[in-house]
Amino acid sequence: MNITVIGTGYVGLVSGICYAELGNRVICVDKDLAKVATLQNGGIPIYEPGLQELSAKNTAAGRLSYTSDLREAVEQADIVIIAVGTPSLPNGEANLAYIDQAAIEIAQAMNGYKIIAVKSTVPVGTNERVAKLIRSWTAEQFHSISLPEFLREGSAVQDTLHPDRVVIGADSETAAETIVRLHRSLTDQIVVTDIRSAEMLKYASNAFLATKISFINEIANICEKVGADVTRVAEGMGYDKRIGHAFLKAGIGYGGSCFPKDTRALIQIAGNVDYEFKLLRAVVEVNQDQRMNVIRKLESIFDGELQGKTIAVWGLAFKPNTDDVRESPAHEIIQYLTQSGAHVKAYDPIATRNFRSMYGENGVMWCDDALQAATGADALCLLTEWDEFVRADLVELQSLLRKPILIDGRNVFKEADLAETKFIYYSIGRPRLN
Ligand code: UGA
Repeated sequence: MNITVIGTGYVGLVSGICYAELGNRVICVDKDLAKVATLQNGGIPIYEPGLQELSAKNTAAGRLSYTSDLREAVEQADIVIIAVGTPSLPNGEANLAYIDQAAIEIAQAMNGYKIIAVKSTVPVGTNERVAKLIRSWTAEQFHSISLPEFLREGSAVQDTLHPDRVVIGADSETAAETIVRLHRSLTDQIVVTDIRSAEMLKYASNAFLATKISFINEIANICEKVGADVTRVAEGMGYDKRIGHAFLKAGIGYGGSCFPKDTRALIQIAGNVDYEFKLLRAVVEVNQDQRMNVIRKLESIFDGELQGKTIAVWGLAFKPNTDDVRESPAHEIIQYLTQSGAHVKAYDPIATRNFRSMYGENGVMWCDDALQAATGADALCLLTEWDEFVRADLVELQSLLRKPILIDGRNVFKEADLAETKFIYYSIGRPRLN
């Protein structure tokens, strides 16, 4: 099939490259000329394991190309996939300006029947809005498809090529069949439904996963007070098939470009139809507060006085295996520390550059390696569970810190890992060690 993908952000780029890998002819379009040039030259503007190799392979095979010429790309397509960003407006609602713009530009380039699919996460009714917009600009025939995306950053290629399910919201049986055919080799779990249900399903899935995280984080906070261990609690809960083990890792709260934005958007979607989504409001509030768990521990250790203390921070990305720092818990934690007069020494294996450009300099010392960040610090806070940190030599680490205080915001270490050390070890929802 001839597929044109509009938008080369995470979703657009990964999907486009993976559709080419399945044997389709794919054109990825972006307005950002520098990004297109990078892609044409074999570069990948995001850090995503395996993506660069797949892009190079499919470009060389002549199945994949990158352009800023939307008109030509749309003219050549049987299926146009909109995968532009839907950032949050100040009230939490999704900003549909890029979607609208893409719809108009597609309409202006239409040269015959096409399937127009929306992969961006969009509020219920957006596909109808897109169809209406296109109809107001062209008399060409088309069908709409809602094609929500469930990939995770850091395992995006794997998630796209081996999805748990594919969801297709359609207003026509024949268009649905074409899109089913496109995904048939990926999974047997293809859910074909109406467009509005598909749009809702994406928000409901992300909101549910966010709820699991906030739930286990609250259980962790209670565990700390009653002397229980949340990792054992979650493990035992997870064996119940109705609960499952996934997304029950307590920590410092979820971040990233999806959960924070989508939970806010769903609260707003509900509000727009006069429904107060009380549970999800609480999920968001708990998540916000969970970042303070680390701060509260530091304050209790230093009797509320962070002024003049040197705090090492390991991990700036919102999760490991990505350089994405959007809504990363590290942001608020570091901000709080610097505002309290602490000196922060921060390190991340790959996200430091992105973090710096988002955060500014603001008195943080950015370090080139993990041990350099720890040297001379009064305490170390681990905020992202990168492998490099999990494998750290804790004996050496202890010798570099001024005080052997380790606050593990992701519960990566076990009691046995610390056996050779004198660390005073705090984690989330587990008893303090030493
Ligand atoms: C999430 C969903 O998992 C994807 O299915 C979805 O497609 C994507 O959003 C999206 O809407 O585009 P992603 O944001 O890449 O994917 O990352 P996750 O792996 O889901 O992690 C999100 C956050 O939750 C991270 O900050 C992570 O540290 C945190 N988390 C996750 C926990 O704190 N505990 C857990 O048990 C799991």
